[in-house]
Amino acid sequence: MRAVSAEASPPHAPALRAEGIVKRFGEREALRGVSFEARSGEVLAVIGPNGAGKTTLLEIVAGAQEADGGTVTRPPGGVGWVPQRLSVYTRLTVEENLRLFARLEKLERPQEAVARMLDITGLLSNPDVVLLDEPSAALDPRQRARFWVVAERLVQDGAAVLFTTHDVAEAERHADRVLVIADGEMLFDGTAQELRAAGHGEPGEDLEMAVVRFLKERGH
Ligand SMILES: Nc1ncnc2c1ncn2[C@@H]1O[C@H](COP(=O)(O)OP(=O)(O)OP(=O)(O)O)[C@@H](O)[C@H]1O
Ligand SMILES: [Mg+2]
Repeated sequence: MRAVSAEASPPHAPALRAEGIVKRFGEREALRGVSFEARSGEVLAVIGPNGAGKTTLLEIVAGAQEADGGTVTRPPGGVGWVPQRLSVYTRLTVEENLRLFARLEKLERPQEAVARMLDITGLLSNPDVVLLDEPSAALDPRQRARFWVVAERLVQDGAAVLFTTHDVAEAERHADRVLVIADGEMLFDGTAQELRAAGHGEPGEDLEMAVVRFLKERGH
């Protein structure tokens, strides 16, 4: 765990900025000029229908995929990314998995890279921004609770955490801000309360219903 030090970003300092991100797959425009900012110590939820572009956005922000337009400004401490389809082989140990991927990534000294990763982190390298693509989708309630304890520790240490989910209640429970994306467009950026109001939800009403109305009114 990173100790909070003089070097840690002050709370609420901008940690990441994406501006006008465009991504095309052939004819399909998966992202149509998406912009957002994440600040240090902040949790952002990204919600939106299947195929909205959430995974593509995270991949571009993580640097795993090139955008066709726009800019991403990343923090000096780097961006950590847990992909939606986490490619680990359960019959291999953590070290064997790391070694395999170090080779697949054609790192020059795979053994050294693996040792360094295991050493620094005990897995997570305390990046300034953590991107989690549907992190809780396959977790049972107890595992989910444990997961959020770990994530909130990262936030307390000053990381910005951005996660995608189809669980609107989870977004409301854990995120300071909710981003709604549909068909490659960022439709909303604000608090869960503001989103409920934008979807004509009554205070106390399930946010999910308000989100469905919000999307429908905008043609999704
Ligand atoms: N490698 C690819 N080649 C072609 N089309 C792609 C590729 N990756 C994504 N797409 C398309 O881009 C759009 C956005 O996909 P993306 O996976 O980012 O959506 P998503 O919001 O993460 O969806 P889900 O909620 O199902 O995870 C979809 O229309 C998808 O079919
Ligand atoms: Mg996805």
